[in-house]
Amino acid sequence: MPLKGTLTLPGDKSISHRTVMLAALSDQRSKVNNLSNGKDVKSTISCLKNCGIDIEYSTGSYFVNGGRFKQPITDLDCGNSGTTMRLLIGLLAGQGIDANFIGDKSLSNRPMERIIDPLKKMGLNIKSNKTMPPIHISKSKLKGIDYVMPIASAQLKSSILLAALGAKSNTTIKENIVSRDHTEIMLKNIGVNLYRKSGSIFVEPCNKFLPQNISVPADPSTAAFFIGAAVLSPRSKLLITNLLLNETRIGFLRALEKMGCSFNYRNIRNVSGEKIGDLEVRYHKLFGIEINKSDIPSIIDEIPILALIASQAEGTTIVSGAEELRVKESDRLEAICRNLKAIGINVIEKSDGFIIKGGSKIQSGDVQTFDDHRIAMTFHIASVISGKEIKLDNAECVNISFPAFFKTIENIIR
Ligand code: S3P
Repeated sequence: MPLKGTLTLPGDKSISHRTVMLAALSDQRSKVNNLSNGKDVKSTISCLKNCGIDIEYSTGSYFVNGGRFKQPITDLDCGNSGTTMRLLIGLLAGQGIDANFIGDKSLSNRPMERIIDPLKKMGLNIKSNKTMPPIHISKSKLKGIDYVMPIASAQLKSSILLAALGAKSNTTIKENIVSRDHTEIMLKNIGVNLYRKSGSIFVEPCNKFLPQNISVPADPSTAAFFIGAAVLSPRSKLLITNLLLNETRIGFLRALEKMGCSFNYRNIRNVSGEKIGDLEVRYHKLFGIEINKSDIPSIIDEIPILALIASQAEGTTIVSGAEELRVKESDRLEAICRNLKAIGINVIEKSDGFIIKGGSKIQSGDVQTFDDHRIAMTFHIASVISGKEIKLDNAECVNISFPAFFKTIENIIR
């Protein structure tokens, strides 16, 4: 069945986390509209409130009065959110706070060594459970660091950048593959002296921050599920308004263009350093492609839905260099391949990706979500485009990023 209509989606999750964290640094009142309403961003808000930051919600807007962090008296519960934990550890380290960070079952098994190593080098007293949460940090005098990123990770980069604000000296981070750059854009907006030169980011310590007045653009990682459903359903025509089109986030759109899709971009504009626009999506016949390591950061969260799309394209799709997917909310390479097989798709799992032979018909089946929101959404889309019954063992996990997911897709099926 075709998908038709105009979608106005909730704010980007990455920008939402960062907006409230950076607003917490300013001693003036910030106003934020269209904040992500998923559980992950709620985790960030509740951790900041536990650190004495005043955050109120009133008629569609969040108001943040920050500037003074207090020692939290309870554990900071980051729930399912790696972004909350990794970024807040850096932020609170820079503000001289003692804190204990905990998470749910999935987050408690995610690697934290990546942030522990550079933050220790900056002088932070940080303890973990064999490099995993719970993580405890104690007030420490930090110094700047010259750091070469061992992996492309915006969470790692951002954790260091936020800690660097409270260091005694400047910090330099060299990225071989550029990951999402919202932290850099937003730090500049709030008055931090930060610039990029020949592949490195330079940042100076800072203790006076400007407030923000922003409306968060729609999340391209959430939009990807609707875009995927539309390109696979004949006669579809969707308009997604106010969509974040930052170059570090649109690897999914670029991949679909390589597969044979063409999009109509309208109203392209730059708002506070972020590229935003409206995107018109229609059904297209698609062909297999190759995605490799240098493409991965800009499509990292969209690989599950891309895999489903590849299964309906003509020819073979090969994804490689994607081993980071094994340490997301679930082992996403395993989750993708296991569940594609369960609905009749020809897929071979590799240690760093997969190979999908397109063109198989989707069958009914039972899907194990591993409590991962992006796996649940991907396989619900499989059911929408095929009309087959696909049972999710945990449909509720979509609440992590987009509680209205099922209702929204229902509303555009014509
Ligand atoms: C995010 C960075 C990415 C992404 C995650 C959000 C961020 O994680 O997968 O969903 O907001 O910085 P990594 O930094 O682990 O690649």
